[in-house]
This record gives sequence, structure tokens and C-alpha cells, in this order.
Amino acid sequence: MKALVKYAYEDGALEVRDVREPAAGPGTVLVRIHTVGVCGSDVHMWHNSQSASSKGVLPVTLGHESAGIVAAVGDGVSGWVVGDRVVCETAASICGVCALCRTGRYNLCPWREGYGLKRDGAMAEYVVAEPRVLHRIPDGVDFSTAAMTEPYAVAYNAVVERAHVAPGNLVVIQGAGAIGINALQVALLEGAATTVVLGTGIDAHRLGIARELGATRTVDVTAEDPLELLSTLHDGLGADLVVDATGVSGALRQSMELVRPAGAIAKVGWGPQPLGFSLDPLVKKAVTLYGCYSHTWTTWENVLRLFASGQLRPERILGGVYPIEEWEEAFSAMQHGRNIKSVLRMPFCLESEAAR
Ligand SMILES: NC(=O)c1ccc[n+]([C@@H]2O[C@H](COP(=O)([O-])OP(=O)(O)OC[C@H]3O[C@@H](n4cnc5c(N)ncnc54)[C@H](O)[C@@H]3O)[C@@H](O)[C@H]2O)c1
Ligand SMILES: [Zn+2]
Ligand SMILES: [Zn+2]
Repeated sequence: MKALVKYAYEDGALEVRDVREPAAGPGTVLVRIHTVGVCGSDVHMWHNSQSASSKGVLPVTLGHESAGIVAAVGDGVSGWVVGDRVVCETAASICGVCALCRTGRYNLCPWREGYGLKRDGAMAEYVVAEPRVLHRIPDGVDFSTAAMTEPYAVAYNAVVERAHVAPGNLVVIQGAGAIGINALQVALLEGAATTVVLGTGIDAHRLGIARELGATRTVDVTAEDPLELLSTLHDGLGADLVVDATGVSGALRQSMELVRPAGAIAKVGWGPQPLGFSLDPLVKKAVTLYGCYSHTWTTWENVLRLFASGQLRPERILGGVYPIEEWEEAFSAMQHGRNIKSVLRMPFCLESEAAR
């Protein structure tokens, strides 16, 4: 089968290969992938600029934002039948017995193995999954939307489950990629009164979409200092919550300036650069800094329900749908700000369209 494989720790070491089709073993199911989202982290894997803590086991098939159908059910699996429409969570494997797994925080299991990193992922025709990671796609939610559950779950985890937005809050979001724009949508659902989205020179198009989605203001930080704007909003003391969705370590310096005393920073973006500045403002302002990582079962169910109820706007972040052979264009459109989200469609998607 076709799969998009990262084969070396070098910039550009990614290609479509013909690899062996996996099979459902005891206790697992085989999922036939219909559509798979391209994540900012996949773009980093392409350029070998991923976080130091994101070292995969190579060669590895990328892809953790999958939507498809159950194609085969292994022995001992109940509750799933061939044809069920599903999305798969990212944590392909967890230990299941550590203190974090036992308390439902398996996103933090030290032995977790994620799709597209330590386990072959979903930028392939088939992927093997434990039933634990499967969620049913609600009726009326199409595969392209379902393939975006994961980046919404990241935003939901940061804005709802880790930090909290109270109705009436001022929320600043650093970054206009999928995570930042999704965090905006979730903050608006939570009742943020004022939202400001920050981007860079590549983000003119994406910041326009942020405004369409309801952002009060957007700022290109390479042209304007957002601190001046913040001093004019609410009581001028700063943001109740700053969400860092940039992947640039230096953004933390700015979030410490933008946050109000006793406010919070939700740090979702990560990257390998060291800081090189003092964290004293965190102390002096008594700011709560939340590290936000991944998501769990409840997060996924909540996002899927919000898709079904139409309260999120996934269609506004979907910039393009590409056959897997055109992955480079799909990745590049995200890297250069043309798309907030690109998705790849697999042969199953093309067959389904042809059959219609
Ligand atoms: N913690 C998690 O579980 C998790 C999950 C998914 C993604 N991430 C990370 O979140 C980050 C964002 O992901 P994405 O897919 O949206 O990435 P992206 O690369 O598409 O978007 C990053 C955005 O930040 C902007 N930016 C860069 N420097 C900035 C600055 N100084 N101020 C304001 N904006 C700035 C860029 O122009 C871009 O719009 C990445 O670091 C990614 O690895 C973390
Ligand atoms: Zn992702
Ligand atoms: Zn564990």
C-alpha cells in the first residue's frame, strides 16, 4: 500500500513508498483511511525541525489526524463492525497500568507511543488501531471534518481542560495556524468577550479568516506591537489568558508581557530552541503557566459532538484536499500560510467518489 514515510533525520527525508499492508491482530482493528489531516508537526517532521522530545522511530509513516472505516476486526474485539465510520486518537499505544493511565491521563503516559512518531501513522491506506482509540463519526459529519478532530482536541484541551476561559474574558492567541485558529473558536464558544489573534508576515490570509470567525482584532507582530493594542482593551492590564500556539520559544517572552497579573498562559506550541531570557515576569505577575499536551477520550467525544451540532467551523480552516501523491503541495501550503489546514485523501476516498 502507499504510505508517506519519514526515513531519516534530515531536512526533506520524506517520500511516498510502497509498504506492506498491516493486518488486524487479536484485540485490534484495521482501519481503512479515507482522509488524513496534515499537522504542523508533520511539516516539522518533513523539515526535521520537530521538538527534541518528538524523536520518532524511523522509518515511520506520518499521520495522526485520521478518518476512515473499520475494514477488519481482530479476534476478541467487540462493539465494532466492518464499515463503522471512525476517527482514531493519537495515542496508538499506552502502558495502561501506570498512575497516569489509571487516572485517565494517558496522554501523559511515559510509555505512550503516538501514530506518526513511534507507530506507523495514517498517511497510508490502512492503519492498525486498538479499539480504545476509536470514536464513531456522528451522522452528518463528513470524513474531511472528522479528520480535523485532533487539532480541535488540542485546542479544546488547552482552552477548556487545562486553562479556563470565563465568559467576558480577554483572550490573546499567538499563532494563526490550525491550533491558534481552533483555540480562537473554542475561546469564543467559552464566551470570551474580546479575542486577539497574533500572527507573522505569512499570516495575512489566516488572520483574515480569524476575523471572519469572530476575532475582535488581529495583529501581525512583525509590523505592530500588540502590547499597545492590549493597553487599550478591557481595563488595560492585559489578557486573562494567552494561548501560545506558535512553536517559537521566544513567543513566551511576549506572552509574559501580554498576560495580566494573576492571569494564565496556555503553552501549546513547542520547539527545540532554548529561551535565552528571564522568566521573572511569570513570578512578579503570579502567572499560571499551563503546559498543554495532547488530549484524551472525553476531549475527542466533545469535539465530535460540537462538529455534529455545528458549533465549530471546521470548513473555514480547511484550505485544500490533496491526493497523497501531492503531499508536498499540501505541506507547503500550510508552511507558507496559504492554508490553515490541508488534508490528504487516500485511494479509498477517490474510490468512494467514483462510486457515487
Ligand atoms: N502540545 C500539543 O499537544 C500540540 C499539538 C499540536 C501542535 N502543537 C504545536 O503547536 C504549535 C502550533 O501548531 P500549528 O499546527 O498551528 O503550527 P503552524 O506552524 O501552522 O502555526 C504557527 C503560527 O505561529 C505564527 N507565529 C510564529 N511566531 C510568532 C510570534 N512570535 N507571534 C505570533 N505568531 C507567531 C506563525 O506565523 C503561524 O501562524 C506548533 O509548535 C505545534 O508543534 C502542540
Ligand atoms: Zn495534529
Ligand atoms: Zn501508562
